[in-house]
Amino acid sequence: MLKPENTQLAPDGQPFEQVTLQNAAGATATFMDWGATWLSFTLPLADGSSRELLLGCQSPHDYMNQSAYLGATVGRYANRIACSQFEVEGKPHRVVANQGVHQLHGGPEGFHARRWKILEQTAQKLTFELFSADGDQGYPGNMTAKVHYQLTDDNRLEIRYEATVDKLCPVNLTNHAYFNLDGEGTDARQHKLQLFADRFLPVDSDGIPCADPTPVENTGMNFNAPKTLAKDFLGDRDQQRVKGYDHAYLLNRTCNAGTNPAAHLWSADGKVKMTMFTSAPAVQLYSGNFLGGTPNRSGGEYASYSGVALESEFLPDSPNHATWPQPSCWIKPGQTYKSTTTYQFFAL
Ligand code: BGC
Repeated sequence: MLKPENTQLAPDGQPFEQVTLQNAAGATATFMDWGATWLSFTLPLADGSSRELLLGCQSPHDYMNQSAYLGATVGRYANRIACSQFEVEGKPHRVVANQGVHQLHGGPEGFHARRWKILEQTAQKLTFELFSADGDQGYPGNMTAKVHYQLTDDNRLEIRYEATVDKLCPVNLTNHAYFNLDGEGTDARQHKLQLFADRFLPVDSDGIPCADPTPVENTGMNFNAPKTLAKDFLGDRDQQRVKGYDHAYLLNRTCNAGTNPAAHLWSADGKVKMTMFTSAPAVQLYSGNFLGGTPNRSGGEYASYSGVALESEFLPDSPNHATWPQPSCWIKPGQTYKSTTTYQFFAL
């Protein structure tokens, strides 16, 4: 029998399944079932050409050889859980560590590393489902998670998450796409960003929160007015600890999933803009500080800082910080976790 590592098969020995959605404007969005991963977004530009706006690998199999979580669906709990523990109904509970003593992005075999089932598929819609058994990566209870992707004719990629549980469990689902709106191979720090957040969460060099949400005012962390990522890059101690931007921003209460964006991002050449909307309370801004060595689309490797991720989520380590000003990240049996994020792309 051929071993999966000698073929283009997924780690479970089965083929990867890819699906491409296309809209009336000619934009495409491609996904695969492994990790319910968003592989590509191509946008027709004003001059008739088409541009790839996401970082990605040459083949689905290459995604197995990277730790950047390119385009993956991340869960059960995106971002970090300090010391891989929290209390469930007053009792200490441990989850599986995968970043030293901490847990990052749901553990070593998190939702990014699983085959999701395709539930529904049309020209512009795609739904994936995953069953996660009691104890998966240390989490309590069985969970069923769904991710709905929809590509609209006005170039919005809408992502809707849903999850149900049979025991009390913290849930924080996100997508880990990296954007480079200039196309591949450029330094994404030349993008201009506007982020509607008056507070960010300071972290230590492991990315673990080390203070409460803190005003961005008068610091290099402030993106309330548009500026390039390069402008104040590494100017603050907060950034120096983690080699750049790798911080959660607590969105202003005016941000929502439909009309008031969380962020705008502009390509350096001024030809593409992206607007992000989300129902989540926070966004992790990650400037690709550790991207170096990640396999790229042409068989080579990405350099660090070649893409920027804007991940919708609860603040990191929220199961251990019940008093932070955001809704609860816990869901109970009978409740449905729901979170929506839309990335809309504009050819300028
Ligand atoms: C984290 C980074 C991490 C990256 C890839 C981001 O969401 O905040 O610290 O390096 O994911 O794992």
